[in-house]
This record gives sequence, structure tokens and C-alpha cells, in this order.
Amino acid sequence: MKNEKLKGIILAGGKATRLYPATLETCKQLLPVHDKPMVYYPLSTLMLAGIRDILIISTQKDIERFENLFEDGSQLGLNFSYQTQEKPRGLADAFRVGRNFIGDDRVCLVLGDNIIYGERLEYMLKKAARKRNGGTIFGYKVSNPTAYGVMEFDQSNRVLSVKEKPKKPKSEYAVIGLYFFDNDVVEIAKGVRPSKRKELEITSVINKYIKRGNLESILIGRGFAWLDTGTFKSLADASEYIRVLEERQNCKIGCVEEIAFELGYINERQLRKLAEPLKKSGYGEHLLRLLK
Ligand code: G1P
Repeated sequence: MKNEKLKGIILAGGKATRLYPATLETCKQLLPVHDKPMVYYPLSTLMLAGIRDILIISTQKDIERFENLFEDGSQLGLNFSYQTQEKPRGLADAFRVGRNFIGDDRVCLVLGDNIIYGERLEYMLKKAARKRNGGTIFGYKVSNPTAYGVMEFDQSNRVLSVKEKPKKPKSEYAVIGLYFFDNDVVEIAKGVRPSKRKELEITSVINKYIKRGNLESILIGRGFAWLDTGTFKSLADASEYIRVLEERQNCKIGCVEEIAFELGYINERQLRKLAEPLKKSGYGEHLLRLLK
């Protein structure tokens, strides 16, 4: 049966040249954001949406690093697959590279460098995850829309189209790097042609769903954080934001072991096994505290 299950893809490719020399010998999505690798945040987003089958797409050079980090995912009660993308051909390429993984199912694509955090996030994700047909995207008001895919609205605030990095943006709402699609996305992505910047744009996929009248756009309110990590400044800002909130509330954001435990994917014994090697860090201490 088509569209039965929802799977997840984390796209963690690219060279991150804006972060050279920090990313000359490692990849961006494994750099720390405060106290954990960046990729933990998008992984936690997929987990909160209830997704357990996860494909990581990265470069030939970096894919092994992710495999070493997450292995088959069973230690978190998850099921990981890995695939390489030889060249960063654009976001829509993830549905081509991942077509066998997706099979007949629905899929949520999250970018390996997108951090999203806020109250009722889980509710919002679950809502998108339940939708059997069409797609769901999320808009977030930003001060620099020209850097993103941008939404255009009609008078009743319905999204008319999205445009990639427009010189004259039609709104302040950027499309964040988190997309839910039904199985048609595989066929749609196959038909996408490269843009002027020679990429298979996610916006082309989104516009197709809009034309079909089959796209839900959720605008995220100001209580949410959608953080950028593309430059040294934004990376440092994201780290600081996470650190301040974690210390203030004595919690951990993007703590995948904790989420696996809360969701009942792993038991106390399994959590202890994950926590023990980390116990010299505050992160490990946090995990051990969950067991008390
Ligand atoms: C990509 C997408 C863009 C989206 C952004 C979110 O941009 O193409 O539509 O708004 O991710 O992070 P890129 O990373 O290619 O600049």
C-alpha cells in the first residue's frame, strides 16, 4: 500500500566552504553546536515526528563518519541507512538518491544543518506526519529572506508559490529545511530540471504540490527558534542560544538518547550503556540523571 509509512531523510552533504578551514577535514553537520554534533538536532526533529527509518545522505568522503557515529541505529531503537551523493546537486536530488529507501512510503526530508526548537514542536510535527496525501512545509519570518526559499501569499494568506533566493522577496517568510511529502515526491523529483544555479531545487517540488492544490503551509510563530549554522557567526549564535536555554532550564535540546528513552524505544539498561562512556561530560551526566 502506498503512503502507509513515513520515513525520514537527513541530507548532510556539501562542502561547507563558508566554514573553511574548520570543515576542510570534517563535515559541517558533525561540528558541535554547543555540546553535541549538529546532526543530533535534525535527527531529534525526525524522532519527534515519530519516524524510525532514517536515511543519511552525505558525500563519499564523509558518509563513513556518520556510519561510525550512528551505526545501524538500533542502539537508539532506530533503523539507519546510508547513501552517498557524489555531487551536491540540490535538495530535490535527495528523493532521487533515496528512491529505493523511500519505496512506496511517504518521506520527511530534513537538512542536516537545520535546528528547530520551540514549544509544541512535537504536536506540529505529528500533525504533518499524519497527513497521508500531499505535502507540508513550514514558513518562518526572517530578516534576510533573500538567502532562502521564500513564500508568496495571496490576500487570504494562502501560499501561491515559493521562490528560491529571490532578489525581491514577496514576503519575509522563508521555507525552513523540513519537508513532508507523500510518495508522489519520487516521481515529481524525477521530473525536476536544474535551475540557473544548476541545482535540483526543492522549491520546484514544492511548486508542483502547490499547483496540484495539495500542499499545506504552516507558519511558525515567533516563540520558535529556527537557527542557521552556515557561517561562523551563525554557528556561534546557535551554540550560545542552545547553551543559554539548556542551562536556564536544566534540560537538553536535541538529546537523541533521551528522546529514544522517552518514546520507549530503549529501556533503562540500554540508556545506561549509552550514557556510561559519556559520563565525563555534562551531556553524559544528564543521561545518567534520567535514570535516577
Ligand atoms: C536550502 C533551500 C531553501 C531553504 C533553505 C533552508 O537553501 O534551497 O529553499 O529555504 O535550504 O535552510 P540552501 O541551503 O541551498 O542555500
